[in-house]
Amino acid sequence: MRGSSASRCIVAAIPIQFDLPMNTVRAIYPGSFDPPTNGHLDLIARGSKIFDHLVVAVLNNAEKEQPLFTSPDRVEMLRETTREFGNVSVETFDGLLVEFARQQRAQAVLRGIRAISDYEYEFQMALMNRRLAPELETVFMMPAEKYSYVSSRLIKQVFHLGGSVEGLVPPIVLERMRRHSPPI
Ligand code: PNS
Repeated sequence: MRGSSASRCIVAAIPIQFDLPMNTVRAIYPGSFDPPTNGHLDLIARGSKIFDHLVVAVLNNAEKEQPLFTSPDRVEMLRETTREFGNVSVETFDGLLVEFARQQRAQAVLRGIRAISDYEYEFQMALMNRRLAPELETVFMMPAEKYSYVSSRLIKQVFHLGGSVEGLVPPIVLERMRRHSPPI
């Protein structure tokens, strides 16, 4: 290496000035989460890596006739299963998502896309939300492939009909499902 360009390399201590704004990005991850699945948690883990703070927002949905869990139950399960993430919080919301996002001073909405079939609904929601709040960006992420067919709706159906949903929901969710409504 003697005399090569590598050995002649001089490292100068030049102070570098960054002109980047010190922005922090807060995002909302909204949903019904009835019940929270491993697909939801996978997305929360991914979102917590790219956003400074992620607010998991549980819809207090009166319109859904018979939710399996009350929203306080869903919040509790989500808080328990996201405790390891220092930048994730869990809240409930009513009404328009964009209003909640404004209250939370969030700049982005995170949504998961599992398959093309999700796209149309998600696209409509994202564009409606953009019309209502142009400053709010919707960011789509894909969960791990192994959860690409998992939905809360299917989990409930399979569970009620006696099928196994182990590995598709966090253990504490499974435990509560068993306590709450044993399979028929
Ligand atoms: O997990 P889900 O049930 O698909 O989540 C749907 C959710 C909660 C994101 C959506 O229904 C919602 O944002 N509801 C709040 C009411 C609202 O803002 N509606 C207009 C959205 S275009």
